[in-house]
Amino acid sequence: MRQRLAVGNWKMNNGPTEARAFMAAFLGVYAPRSDRTVALFPPALSLAAVRDALVSRTDVFLGVQNIHSEPKGAFTGEVSAGMLREFGCRYVIVGHSERRQWFGEDDRTVALKVKAVLAAGMVPIICVGETLAERESGVTEKVVGRQIAAALDELGSETLKGAVLAYEPVWAIGTGRTASPEQAQAVHASIRGLLAKRDGSLGDLAPILYGGSVKAANAAELFAMPDVDGGLIGGASLVAQEFISICRAADQPSGRDG
Ligand code: PGA
Repeated sequence: MRQRLAVGNWKMNNGPTEARAFMAAFLGVYAPRSDRTVALFPPALSLAAVRDALVSRTDVFLGVQNIHSEPKGAFTGEVSAGMLREFGCRYVIVGHSERRQWFGEDDRTVALKVKAVLAAGMVPIICVGETLAERESGVTEKVVGRQIAAALDELGSETLKGAVLAYEPVWAIGTGRTASPEQAQAVHASIRGLLAKRDGSLGDLAPILYGGSVKAANAAELFAMPDVDGGLIGGASLVAQEFISICRAADQPSGRDG
């Protein structure tokens, strides 16, 4: 069975003080579960606050929003995957549309970063998704296919077996406009088909998350889709109770509340 995941991407929100308050509220209510995985992606300065809050919780993981693709060197302002692994991070978001849009990251940069994450023994969450203009001109699957092929071509399907994918339509991120469960399922199924074509077991194993205006009110119907294995949550992961409800929606369909 594929792993179920609920991950919170705080983006540039929640400094250390707010992060500590969030963790107290979150961990006070959120009970450990063995059939879903939760990860939090605070901004770099709040990683320590979140890590320290998680010392007695092995069920919630620490992730980082970005890395540099080189292991070390003269790259002022950057942090490498190995350093973050040493710090205690397990997951890295790579190829988020905000990185592609505001920081000029292209498919090649994304592939190099995925390689660096895997080399450091961490798990990349590779984000793909189309813009509104691309969806309206009917090229969604082509765009997503190109973004995934870039990583597969660089790394090979064997290497990518440790990766997580996230379908995040750009028009749904931070807009309040979510893809319908059917729209999400259609793209997830096409991603899974593409992975399976390269390597059958990759298609079966890789969790594919949906991201883009997921909230407590719509999470269950999205996560109920057969090829949606959980969510990458931005805005709604900043409110502890809201995020807890979303995490619970990521349970296995037979799971009990926790
Ligand atoms: P959102 O962000 O949930 O605020 O739309 C999702 C994301 O960017 O990962």
